[in-house]
Amino acid sequence: MLLVIKMGGSILKEGASSDFVSDLKEIIKDHSVILVHGGGVEVTEIASKLGKEQKFIMSPDGFRSRYTDKETVEIYTMVMAGKLNKQIVLALEAQGINAVGLSGLDSGILRAERKTKLVAVDERGRKKVIDGGYTGKITQVNTGILSLLLGEGYLPIVTPIALSQAYDPLNVDGDRTAAILAGALKADKLILLTDVEGVVLNGVCVSKFSSTMVREVLPTIGGGMSTKVHAGLEALDQGVKEVLVTSGLVKQPITLALNYKIGTVITIE
Ligand SMILES: Nc1ncnc2c1ncn2[C@@H]1O[C@H](COP(=O)(O)OP(=O)(O)OP(=O)(O)O)[C@@H](O)[C@H]1O
Ligand SMILES: [Mg+2]
Repeated sequence: MLLVIKMGGSILKEGASSDFVSDLKEIIKDHSVILVHGGGVEVTEIASKLGKEQKFIMSPDGFRSRYTDKETVEIYTMVMAGKLNKQIVLALEAQGINAVGLSGLDSGILRAERKTKLVAVDERGRKKVIDGGYTGKITQVNTGILSLLLGEGYLPIVTPIALSQAYDPLNVDGDRTAAILAGALKADKLILLTDVEGVVLNGVCVSKFSSTMVREVLPTIGGGMSTKVHAGLEALDQGVKEVLVTSGLVKQPITLALNYKIGTVITIE
């Protein structure tokens, strides 16, 4: 099977945990894997150390996103494709996994249309149209290099940065990137690893959802998790058979999720 696994920034402390990497090492004996990673908190921390306080905006549908001006996209690229991507490469190499760190810029893996305008809602609910900055919506995926690496037994680790039409780097969402890559590569499963056990409703982690059911409860799902559910639905629409949302903080996160021991499964029906 081909698995696309997104590691939330929420579970990355100095790269990938050794429990995660040991589990991954077992998984790749039988499956092909592409990793995508997040890392927003680290970007915010380092930007602040550099004297560049980060601003966040809320969209009318409740999505929180980083306001990404020129300096911010440079810091984002440094931290995500530099520090974090390489920490994960090191953690995998240390346990004998042949890892190749890439960003969406490399060989145009991710191409995106720059958002020229964004609608931001302030604390009082007033809407304001602002410049889109260096954020984008992925429009095209070039899977060539990824297929080549997988075919030769390498494990690609992709940072969510996309190439604009003007060849600028754009900040794109990590969950969405993983979903779009999974769809484009016809992956069997999309696994979203985060810092909670799965999709929680009324205080309880729901073990199984159909896409119809999860759409109904989407308005009650908060911030970071609603992005995952949207991304999961997008992957299912693109032909991915199953989306698993689960904790990356347990001992065998991938094995347990694949065996439905933990986490939330979302399928078409
Ligand atoms: N209904 C819900 N069920 C589960 N988690 C929820 C729910 N509503 C909101 N959340 C929040 O979503 C968070 C997960 O998303 P978050 O974006 O913070 O992490 P991540 O995607 O793993 O990290 P990153 O965005 O840095 O890659 C959880 O920690 C939780 O607080
Ligand atoms: Mg997130």
